[in-house]
Amino acid sequence: MPADAQTTFPQDEVHHAVSNGIGAPEFNLPLPDRPEIITANILKLLEQAHDPRLRFLLKTLTRHMHQFITETSLTTDEWMKAIEFLTRVGQTCTPIRQETILLSDVFGISALVDAINNPPAAGATESSVLGPFFTEDAADVELGHSIASEGKGEYMFVEGTVKGTDGKPIPNVTIDTWETDDHGFYDTQYTSREAPDCRGRLRTDSEGRYSYRAVVPVPYPIPGDGPVGEMLLNMRRHNMRPAHLHMMFEAPGYAKLVTAFYPAGDEFIQSDAVFGVKKSLVVNLEQVNDPERAKALGFKRAEGFKYLRKDIVMRTEAEARETRTQIDEKTGLPLFDD
Ligand code: BEZ
Ligand code: FE
Repeated sequence: MPADAQTTFPQDEVHHAVSNGIGAPEFNLPLPDRPEIITANILKLLEQAHDPRLRFLLKTLTRHMHQFITETSLTTDEWMKAIEFLTRVGQTCTPIRQETILLSDVFGISALVDAINNPPAAGATESSVLGPFFTEDAADVELGHSIASEGKGEYMFVEGTVKGTDGKPIPNVTIDTWETDDHGFYDTQYTSREAPDCRGRLRTDSEGRYSYRAVVPVPYPIPGDGPVGEMLLNMRRHNMRPAHLHMMFEAPGYAKLVTAFYPAGDEFIQSDAVFGVKKSLVVNLEQVNDPERAKALGFKRAEGFKYLRKDIVMRTEAEARETRTQIDEKTGLPLFDD
């Protein structure tokens, strides 16, 4: 942007309004006397974008948006309502609340982007939606220790091994894991939050093993007090996610894996409000009624607990790149990575 291309000034300063520095195109556009000419004109203008991927994305998006308006004969009133809705979505965002991502989630857009970019590959663990409740401030948790403070829910012990697609264990994988308490709230949803809870960061040992204590996840509603919540009511859709435990895996040379595991039997598993559940991510929790074992694992109230064993397979960066190359070959265009 040119240095003086701002739009507001103190009244006592003299400025001239300036353009963004790009001149008129070398062609003249026909005046848009008919709806089709408007579509043709914007598509022609978009030809000027330098980056081929950006040009492709913008032209395709524009064609679909114009097609939608033409096909539905959208009324002026409906379009104003849509603008007011989108404005409210933006205005609802705060540093700790992301209503725009929520909108993408409930339309299945987050899940679709994830599914296209992370197709099931060579036995690798599948991905799931990240959601808005991951935080960077989780405490480091030693293997076998608890991510939840006492009283946050029914006991659960989680363990497994992280391997590559070659079957070799991966040591020192950073694992972030987070979940709600048994009231269905993430720690960040409490105004009284002083420290992270029901979340932690672990590292696999030299043989790729991880283990930790947690609480049994419960189904919970995604935020319903904003414009996206209102929209779901208008759609007559519930705003529930089935119970799940989020896990994210990172290791040098491997593609980051963002996933979640969904205990079987949840009433919302086949109508997840954000379309995050894949068959391979549905897990069985085993009930262990062994007070001695519970005590040895460090549970305070030595009674039963639920047990989840989940082995993980990560793709290397090269394997993930190969998948992306195959996707690009389908669209015929390289990634736009500006
Ligand atoms: C979550 O699982 O944390 C989540 C995902 C999408 C929207 C809201 C919550
Ligand atoms: Fe969640």
